[in-house]
Amino acid sequence: MAILSALWSWLPHALLFSLCVFFVFFLGYCLYIRHLHLKYDHIPGPPRKSFLFGHSAYLVEVMKKDGVVHDLFLEWAETYGPVYRLNVLHYVIIGVYCPEATKEILMSPKYPKDKFLYKRLFNLFGQRFLGNGLVTAQNHELWYKQRRIMDPAFSSLYLRGLTGTFNERAEKLMERLSEEADNNTVANMLHLVNCVALDIIAKVAFGVDLDLLKYSSPFPKAIETCLKGMCYYVRDTTFEYKPQNWPFIREVREASRLLRSTGAQWINERKTAIQNGENVPKDILTQIIKSAGQEEVMTKEDEEFMLDNFVTFFIAGQETTANQLAFCIMELGRHPDILERVKKEVDEVIGVKTEISYDDLGNLTYLSQVLKETLRIYPTAPGTSRDLLEDMVIDGHHIPGGVTCMFSSYASGRLEKFFKDPLKFDPDRFHPDAPKPYYCYYPFALGPRSCLGQNFAQLEAKLVMAKLIQRFDFTLVPGQSFDIKDTGTLRPKSGVLCKIQHRHTS
Ligand code: HEM
Repeated sequence: MAILSALWSWLPHALLFSLCVFFVFFLGYCLYIRHLHLKYDHIPGPPRKSFLFGHSAYLVEVMKKDGVVHDLFLEWAETYGPVYRLNVLHYVIIGVYCPEATKEILMSPKYPKDKFLYKRLFNLFGQRFLGNGLVTAQNHELWYKQRRIMDPAFSSLYLRGLTGTFNERAEKLMERLSEEADNNTVANMLHLVNCVALDIIAKVAFGVDLDLLKYSSPFPKAIETCLKGMCYYVRDTTFEYKPQNWPFIREVREASRLLRSTGAQWINERKTAIQNGENVPKDILTQIIKSAGQEEVMTKEDEEFMLDNFVTFFIAGQETTANQLAFCIMELGRHPDILERVKKEVDEVIGVKTEISYDDLGNLTYLSQVLKETLRIYPTAPGTSRDLLEDMVIDGHHIPGGVTCMFSSYASGRLEKFFKDPLKFDPDRFHPDAPKPYYCYYPFALGPRSCLGQNFAQLEAKLVMAKLIQRFDFTLVPGQSFDIKDTGTLRPKSGVLCKIQHRHTS
């Protein structure tokens, strides 16, 4: 009893002491932020909305209006030039739209992926998400080891061998479109290409048949929820502390758990097959298992690491390609003259055959240009960032080290100084004889951390587009918007609603 009353009498002192400590700490933090402002404010940039949160209120405002954050980055690049500064808490972020600096930073392994963004993708609201997987790994050694093990599953020799599976999966989409044409229904092309892209990655990377065009599945929704959660988690530092967001945060955690538990199940099935001496494919799943511990006994961290890469490939391998396909269909629907040119090429190269070969795809030059132009205006993974540890001069501005450099391929692809009349969809910008864009076009990022799945994705996108154009005419349902939905990745807001007709080739 005496102890309790002594504690009770000490409580106000303890509270007062904690308050003082907090106050001193907070004051110190504010002074540190002030110091950072003084250190970097010579770099041009939009006015800060708040001392502490800096520019983050701008991003939150755009997100509340369901806008595209990269439109703001573009506006700032037009207003403040090729180098501008943003502040969020004690982080200083520099937007870079200067080709020389883009080349220097992205092409060199000297500049690690930035610690703020990629650390936040390790966990989503406390639930492990992309962890130390290939996209998010910051430690160079850890990343390099994984990338080397993964490379064979993306070699052109291996991809050539996958063309049959790509054909077979894309045929399922053609069957579905045929039904849509027969029934004269409106097809949501984003949904359909999402299903086919997930089908392809599940089969090719993990050896699993999902057949999403026939059977429903929780995965597309889980991926969408994780990406939406990721956006809020990264762009709004106060989001998780607001009680009204807690039900959504629970959904995000469950979605991430679902993806990871699916990974655990598929990995275990594959490991059992390997132990039983079965002949397993040298696909991404086998490489994921290889890239984890090589020891007899796997640690818990090895297991988690495999799941990091499982989720990384499950999401990276599907979402961005599906969205590229949907945007491509949308732009072809808006430009009948360009569609006619693609049709002519597809008819000449592919004719009526159903099995498209790897070499056929190489001959679809104009379709390649169309896909490249699609990613210029709609880079579905719209940016990347690197930490600048040492001082650098960019476009005449002295940038003291200790900042993050942000590269928006969306803003870069839409800047008039790089692409004349930037909003015009013009695949001839990528004609083989046209000058190559100089470090201002990077939808797959650049350098050592560029997209591992670039060739895989473009093989898939070309094959699906070629089959679609070979078999069907499509027209956009009038009245739909051509706006972009920003969920970290970019997708068409309308879903790209189309009427499909069988093509009558002469
Ligand atoms: C149109 C489709 C795609 C686009 C636009 C795209 C874009 C990108 C971008 C911009 C990055 C850099 C990310 C960053 O710096 O944070 C990246 C990285 C990556 N992508 Fe893709 N991607 C696509 C398809 C794919 C596919 C199909 C796969 C796998 C099957 C894939 C696997 C990866 C991996 C593993 C990385 C990390 C590479 C590393 O750091 O070593 N991507 N992608």
